[in-house]
Amino acid sequence: MNLYENDAGTGGSLTAKRLFDFQISIFMTHLSNYGNDRLGLYTFESLVKFVQCWTNLKLQTLPPVKLAAKYFELFPEEKDPLWQNPCDDKRHKDIWSKEKTCDRLPKFLIIGPQKTGTTALHFFLSLHPGVTSNFPSPVTYEEIQFFNGANYNKGIDWYMEFFPIPSNASTDFMFEKSANYFESEVVPKRAMALLPRAKIIAILINPVERAYSWYQHQRAHHDSAALNYTFYQVITAGPDAPREVRVLQNRCLLPGWYATHIERWLTFYQPSQFLVVNGLQLRNNPVAVMETVQKFLGVTPHFNYTRALMYDDNKNFWCQMVEGGKSKCLGKSKGRKYPEMDSSSRTFLTNYYREHNIELSKQLNKLGQALPSWLREELQHTSWS
Ligand code: A3P
Repeated sequence: MNLYENDAGTGGSLTAKRLFDFQISIFMTHLSNYGNDRLGLYTFESLVKFVQCWTNLKLQTLPPVKLAAKYFELFPEEKDPLWQNPCDDKRHKDIWSKEKTCDRLPKFLIIGPQKTGTTALHFFLSLHPGVTSNFPSPVTYEEIQFFNGANYNKGIDWYMEFFPIPSNASTDFMFEKSANYFESEVVPKRAMALLPRAKIIAILINPVERAYSWYQHQRAHHDSAALNYTFYQVITAGPDAPREVRVLQNRCLLPGWYATHIERWLTFYQPSQFLVVNGLQLRNNPVAVMETVQKFLGVTPHFNYTRALMYDDNKNFWCQMVEGGKSKCLGKSKGRKYPEMDSSSRTFLTNYYREHNIELSKQLNKLGQALPSWLREELQHTSWS
């Protein structure tokens, strides 16, 4: 049996997909290529008639929607789109509307994970005159969260709407921060397809602290598992624990498998495109971190953060310096006040993350990036035990 179709797009003239096990071929061609070319359709139909007349091959056709259903039944892995930059392929660019531009895409991504200082880095970067963040999302308040979830199916036009048209595409640095890109299985592949030249920034703090910060975040958001169970109960819960506790446990623990997640990113992006920021240093000495980040991005003009940031003794964090020597800090949800972590939880998590941290140190050595102080400390615990 052969199925053929001349009304579905691949952007090329004619493509054929053979499935030898079933002896099925699906022929697809982009009708718009033949928009003004009756000869094209005529040729295609004549070819089909010729094959029917002179061979034993059986040819069938279906209306477009049914054919699409058949196609995805045969090739389910193609159900998920993989958006590429339309301007990276001449054939795509030729049929891409002249009204549109490919410049409304970010040059770099801050990928998270959550609770490591991603909002502070986003805030500080937004002070830079050469750097522009996305318009805030009305749904998530700020983050677009395009590559990881259902938004991806809304397509690249939807994504591009979050970015202004740059006044100078080569010098303007647009970026977005979605802090749950870091641990997502699907994001690195999708990001690479659309943004192959992008730079990627991850921020890491001690995964032990990150887990606790997430737990406190969930308490502040009245998550019932976080309110009803202690941190120790959550992180040590077994497979029989209530579902909500396991969900919280996963959100506390899994993003902290740093080496596993970074490895996934590095199967798609070159080491030179990937920067690991030390979140503890960002908290204590953001001026130094912003120097490193500017250098990594190659953004101009060089921005002097010593004049833009100040330490706020009430907030106990670094903030923007505004007129009259006053400070503008991140809101209450960042830099929360909560009790110290109990020592049993800390011991449990130190052991839990030991192997992950060893892997991370090897990875950072390979990347030629300095080990953060918190990682060196954790590794020292390892050599004593
Ligand atoms: P806590 O609220 O647990 O202290 P994210 O923005 O990725 O969710 O990270 C939030 C964390 O950023 C905060 O966690 C806080 O420790 C850290 N942080 C680092 N620099 C900060 C700053 N200048 N202002 C507020 N929080 C900062």
